[in-house]
Amino acid sequence: MDVIEIIGGKPLKGKVRISGSKNAALPILASTLLTNSKVRLTNIPNLSDIFSMIELLKSLNVKIYKKSNYYTFKSDTPKSLIASYELVRKMRASFLILGPLLSRYGYAKVSLPGGCAIGTRPVDLHLDGLKRMGASFAIKNGYVHGSVKGKLKGTSINFKKKSVGATENLIMAATLAEGKTIINNAAQEPEIDDLCNFLIQIGAKIKGHGTNVITIEGVKKLNGGEFGVMPDRIEAGTFALSVLGCSGNLILTGVNNEIYKHLKDIFKPIKLLKLKKIDNKSFCIEKVKNGELNLKITTKEYPGFPTDLQAQLTSALLKIQGFNEINEKIFENRFMHISELRRMGAKIRKKGSKVEITGVKEIYGAELMATDLRASSCLIIAGLMAKGKTIINRVYHLDRGYENIEKKLKACGAKIDRIKK
Ligand code: UD1
Repeated sequence: MDVIEIIGGKPLKGKVRISGSKNAALPILASTLLTNSKVRLTNIPNLSDIFSMIELLKSLNVKIYKKSNYYTFKSDTPKSLIASYELVRKMRASFLILGPLLSRYGYAKVSLPGGCAIGTRPVDLHLDGLKRMGASFAIKNGYVHGSVKGKLKGTSINFKKKSVGATENLIMAATLAEGKTIINNAAQEPEIDDLCNFLIQIGAKIKGHGTNVITIEGVKKLNGGEFGVMPDRIEAGTFALSVLGCSGNLILTGVNNEIYKHLKDIFKPIKLLKLKKIDNKSFCIEKVKNGELNLKITTKEYPGFPTDLQAQLTSALLKIQGFNEINEKIFENRFMHISELRRMGAKIRKKGSKVEITGVKEIYGAELMATDLRASSCLIIAGLMAKGKTIINRVYHLDRGYENIEKKLKACGAKIDRIKK
C-alpha cells in the first residue's frame, strides 16, 4: 500500500488548479440512470470514489466512455437492478442510485451502506421520503428491496433534518414521478444546485434549488445533454487551510465566484488568512502575519462552516497562538484524527462534540494512520507543518477525494512524495 512521506517546515507558494467537485459529480453520475439518451460530462475528477460509481453504473448497464477531458454515459435497461454490497460498501454515495432506479424502473435492490468511521450515518430520511412518494421497502439480509406499484407519485415531503444525500435522492426520484413534489427543509449545498442544473439541462422541471424548499414537476422522460461539473469547494478550502498552517500564499485556479464568496465568508473569523479575488475563476489565499487566534467555530449545514473542513481546520490551528474551539455538529464521531495529531505533540482536548486546541510552538513528524477521507488531508497539513519526517499510511482514503494532492503541493514548494509500496 502506498504511503505519503513529508518533510515539514516549508511555506507554500504557487498555483493550484482545483479539480471538479466529487460531491457534485457523484449524484450527477447517479442521475445518468434516469435517461436512455446520451449524456456528456466534463470536469469529472479522477478519484477512486468516482471510479467506484462508474463501476456500479456499468453493472447496471450504463455504457460509459472516457475521452481526453469528458465522459459519455448511455443508460440502457439493465438485466438486474441490484447494487451489491461489494460495490456499495466502498462508498456510501452508491445509495444515491436508489431514487433514480425506483423512479425509472419501479424496483431496486441496494445494499445498506452501514456505518463508517465518522459515525452511524443512517438512511431513514431517504427511505421515509421515497415511501411518501409511494415506494415500499423491505430490509432483508442487509439489502433494501424497494418497489413501486406503477409510478412514484409527487407529494409534499418535510425532512425532519437536513440531509444532502436524502435531498438529492428525492430530487432525482421526483424528476420522473407523476405530478408535483415539494421538498421542505431541503439541504442547500451548492452541489445540490449543480445536480439540479444538470437535471434541468436534460429536461427536468425544478424550481427553488439553492433554497430550503425545492419543487419538482415530474416529466415523462428526460433527454440527453452536456454539463460541466462545478469545482470542488472542499478541495479549495483544504488548500486555503494548508496556507493557514504552513504560511505563504497560493493562487487557486479553476474555481468560481460562489466558492470565493463561500470561503471568504466561512473563513472571516480567521483574521490571519486573507482571500483576494483575481478574476471570476481564480483567487489568492495568503497568511498575512503571525498572531493570535481565539476562534469558536461550529460546523453547520451550508452556508455554515462545512464538517468536511473540520479536521483540516484542526490541524491548521495547532501552531497558532491562542485557544481555539471547534464544535462538530453534523457527525458524532468525526474525531479520529485527534489521537494521531496528539502523537505529533499537538495540545488538543476533546469534550463531547467540542475540540479545544491550545497552540504549541512546534509539532513533530511521526508515522501516522489515515482513518477517513478528510482526516487524511488533515494529517497531510499537520505533516507539512511539522518538524522532521511524517509518514502517512492508508492513503487510499485520500485517493477517494483528492486528485493528485501530493503533486499539487509539491509544485508549491512542499517536500512531499508518494512512496509506492
Ligand atoms: C454529504 C457529503 C459529505 C458531507 C455531508 C455533510 C456527498 C457524497 N457526501 O454526505 O461529504 O460530509 O454531506 O455535509 O455529498 N442523516 C440521518 N438520516 C439520513 C441521512 C442523514 O439522520 O437518512 C444524518 C447524518 O447522520 C448526519 C446528517 O444527517 O448527521 C447529515 O448527513 P447528510 O447530509 O445526509 O450527509 P451525506 O449526504 O451522507
